[in-house]
Amino acid sequence: MKDKLSTLKNSAKDIILQANTLQEIDDIRVKYLGKKGEITEISKSMKSLSPEERPLFGLLVNEAREFITEVLETRLAEVKAVVKAEQLFTETLDITLPGKKVEMGGLHPITETMNYLKNIFIEMGFDVAEGPEIEYTSNNFDALNIPESHPSRDLQDTFYMSENVVLRTHTSPVQVRYMGKNKPPFRMVCPGKVYRNDYDISHTPMFHQMEGLMVGENISFANLKAILTQFVTRVFGETNVRFRPHFFPFTEPSAEMDVECVICKGKGCRLCKDSGWLEIMGCGMVDPEVLKAVGYDPEEVTGFAFGMGIERITMLRYGIDDLRAFFENDVRFLKQFK
Ligand code: PHE
Repeated sequence: MKDKLSTLKNSAKDIILQANTLQEIDDIRVKYLGKKGEITEISKSMKSLSPEERPLFGLLVNEAREFITEVLETRLAEVKAVVKAEQLFTETLDITLPGKKVEMGGLHPITETMNYLKNIFIEMGFDVAEGPEIEYTSNNFDALNIPESHPSRDLQDTFYMSENVVLRTHTSPVQVRYMGKNKPPFRMVCPGKVYRNDYDISHTPMFHQMEGLMVGENISFANLKAILTQFVTRVFGETNVRFRPHFFPFTEPSAEMDVECVICKGKGCRLCKDSGWLEIMGCGMVDPEVLKAVGYDPEEVTGFAFGMGIERITMLRYGIDDLRAFFENDVRFLKQFK
């Protein structure tokens, strides 16, 4: 019996050392140590032994079982290490492969231009204010000295939500709100979306504006000219500008500001309709009526205001000649501004 056990131990050891896979090791474990395994079978023969022989026999069987278990475990660790090493080798990551390109979006040219223009004013100490796109007629018209009879009150230009609520037709009502909350002196700009019932090659029912306002003691037309000329120089580079007399209900005197045509430099071309000038914004000294409407004393403070269309300036900056391109969301167009 003792010999039989030692033969079993040796042959088990040989087989175990030749095993190369986890499966083989498991099969061997079942073959020797399983319920119907060889060790189990041998221990069954205990019954046929005399009581004196049994303890020694039991000891030997246990010893054989421990021996095989130990050899199995050692081999198992070795095989596991080999399997892992192979895995590490075959599953290597090739870090020299070029990475996958992550597509990034970009700002819409209108948004980009808006931020750009806004920052020029921020650098000149202007505050930035926003307001609702749905506005009371009192803020959009009355407080701005736009009488009932004025053409811009006409139903054709304005989208009415109800008798006294409209989609704002300019960002001037933000200035009215701002003046209600702040005391002069101040300078502010108000960028945002505005709405007019107008749709053709050069008008869309929604477009963007940035208006501005500076109020304080002794603010004059000279200040208006200085600030706006500085602004235009920052946007278009050194260029000639001119102020043409104009009319707005909320400013007096009023003007329109032109820059020398960015294409022909004043010689005359298709873009400037041979005039050599491009109109870029409306401006003027705030009408005393507007100051009174928000409770300021026009004898104490004066101010200037201006307003420009963002689409137009964006078209001039980038040489875009079709307004509709901004709103068609054609990625081939938008990608050029990333
Ligand atoms: N609110 C005017 C418009 O929408 C622009 C403007 C603002 C003109 C301030 C003069 C002064 O057309």
